[in-house]
Amino acid sequence: MPFCKNIAILEKEVELAIFPQLRLRRLRRTEALRQMVRETDLSVKDFIYPLFVIHGEGIRQEIGSMPGNFHISVNLLPREAEEVAGLGIPAIILFGLPETKDALGSGAYAPDGIIQNAVRVIKKAMPELVVITDVCLCEYTSHGHCGVVEGGYIDNDKTLELLARTALSHAEAGADMVAPSDMMDGRVREIRETLDRNGFQDISIISYAAKYASSFYGPFREAAECAPQFGDRRSYQMDPPNVREALREVEQDIAEGADIVMVKPALAYLDVIRQIRDEFNYPLAAYNVSGEFAMVKAAAQRGWLDEKAVALEILTAIKRAGADMVITYYAKEAARWLSQD
Ligand code: PBG
Repeated sequence: MPFCKNIAILEKEVELAIFPQLRLRRLRRTEALRQMVRETDLSVKDFIYPLFVIHGEGIRQEIGSMPGNFHISVNLLPREAEEVAGLGIPAIILFGLPETKDALGSGAYAPDGIIQNAVRVIKKAMPELVVITDVCLCEYTSHGHCGVVEGGYIDNDKTLELLARTALSHAEAGADMVAPSDMMDGRVREIRETLDRNGFQDISIISYAAKYASSFYGPFREAAECAPQFGDRRSYQMDPPNVREALREVEQDIAEGADIVMVKPALAYLDVIRQIRDEFNYPLAAYNVSGEFAMVKAAAQRGWLDEKAVALEILTAIKRAGADMVITYYAKEAARWLSQD
């Protein structure tokens, strides 16, 4: 009977490894033993720290919904960059709050726009710090959408050129990597072609490939002043229940020339991270977004959670799911915690 054969196999395994001979607790007995068999390694080298750049001078103002994160004016960026690099964090990602907004988001691709100025200042002060720029229009458009609005709809193809211009202006300012976060179809190809045509073959693209229409972006939208003034982002960002579609988004972005792909948010989408890691041999980033950060902060401030333990557990979980790098508002704090251990 085939059934017996199965039992025979099972018995052999049983003989080798089952309680009381086997005790999985043996390797958990001391910290040294636990370290030896630890499968996931969380390091400061995995972190990318987001910075919010604001116009004005001498400003370093804490963001209400994101304690420990600041709106920083361009002239104070060298100090911040030094601190970040000093902690061993290899990269930052920049978001800008322009002085004025318009329908076409012209501040996003102005040669002397807020991000372009920020990149120049940081690269001069701290050339070895990897500078990534978020490429999107929503912080720069009066309507708060990530693209060109035509009759109440976000026009995909008309947006592409503006995104490519934005990415090019960031590269010209000295950015190491551009990160399109708009979710328009075809933007990676448009950006890659534009960068290559202008001599920026070596500037890489980290694409927000699977970016969901998530409610976890709330605190960020307040911080970056980029909430849509009408409707929502569901006609371009992904529908949260979908994962097969995420694989297609990643496939497309890789085909178009993305060097690194990203899943966003991270904590509520660990299954998406895992599936992408299993399907593709590309570097994978995950964005532990503002709402995911704010939840932990708020609970910690009330004494309901052990902040350090929970934050490190979340970051470890994101890596265990398969991410190679994590964009996190906890980067500086976690860097300090990891160096204490
Ligand atoms: C811009 C952008 C957003 C975030 C990163 N880039 C907001 C959005 O898409 O509405 C969110 C980041 C966060 O919540 O931490 N498109």
